[in-house]
Amino acid sequence: MITRPMDPERARWVGTGIPPRLRGITLNDVEEMGPSHPQALANARAYVDQFRGQQDKNWKGLPTNPNIFGQGLMFAGPPNTGKTTLAAAVLCELRRRWNVSVYYSRFPAHVDRKIALLKAGGDANPEEVSRMTYSVERVEWADVVLLDDVGQEHTTSTGYAEDTLSELLRQRFDEGLPTLITTNLGGSEWAQRYSKPLRSFMDRCTRRTVFVGEVTRRAAV
Ligand SMILES: Nc1ncnc2c1ncn2[C@@H]1O[C@H](COP(=O)(O)OP(=O)(O)OP(=O)(O)O)[C@@H](O)[C@H]1O
Ligand SMILES: [Mg+2]
Repeated sequence: MITRPMDPERARWVGTGIPPRLRGITLNDVEEMGPSHPQALANARAYVDQFRGQQDKNWKGLPTNPNIFGQGLMFAGPPNTGKTTLAAAVLCELRRRWNVSVYYSRFPAHVDRKIALLKAGGDANPEEVSRMTYSVERVEWADVVLLDDVGQEHTTSTGYAEDTLSELLRQRFDEGLPTLITTNLGGSEWAQRYSKPLRSFMDRCTRRTVFVGEVTRRAAV
């Protein structure tokens, strides 16, 4: 069997959970894709540029900028507006530029992994358990995590998914670890889905950009 050596640039992204089509994507790549959402792109650039300052601590170990320390971004808008692409570019740029550890997960997949680990008994496949454990730990402890498709997770009467989201965001924020979120829930669905305390916490720990209108691809030349 012939195994092709992996391109070293692409190999750097293994273990980050980033989907192969988005690994290593830059903000310039997004800009070249089309003229959509200049404000969102500008917000993304500003976030990456000021990230080190945002996360800065003084000699006592206290945040220099407590108002924004640990803050992430939220990209909200209808399907197919380029939210995931832009958020993945922010993640990749932060890693490249500031050398922080990053991780990507769809939020529904994270909830599924948590439930599977809770249910896993002695007969569970150990490799799968260790893969899921790795992923859950990266979501909780990576310097920056992207939770994609928040709001697409299944809800149950126990409220497990919402509790998971709330606990995860609060724990990360307390540790000063920023979280990036994408969601395609609109205002009223958002309000129906999450409790008021969680919504106001999400506004505290992220800065929201609303995407409107589908992406328009730049005409091929
Ligand atoms: N700035 C852009 N200009 C042109 N096309 C883009 C741009 N950003 C993303 N795209 C393309 O648009 C499609 C949708 O992008 P993406 O998956 O990022 O959207 P999304 O908002 O996350 O959608 P969903 O809500 O369904 O997850 C992809 O094919 C992507 O390559
Ligand atoms: Mg998406």
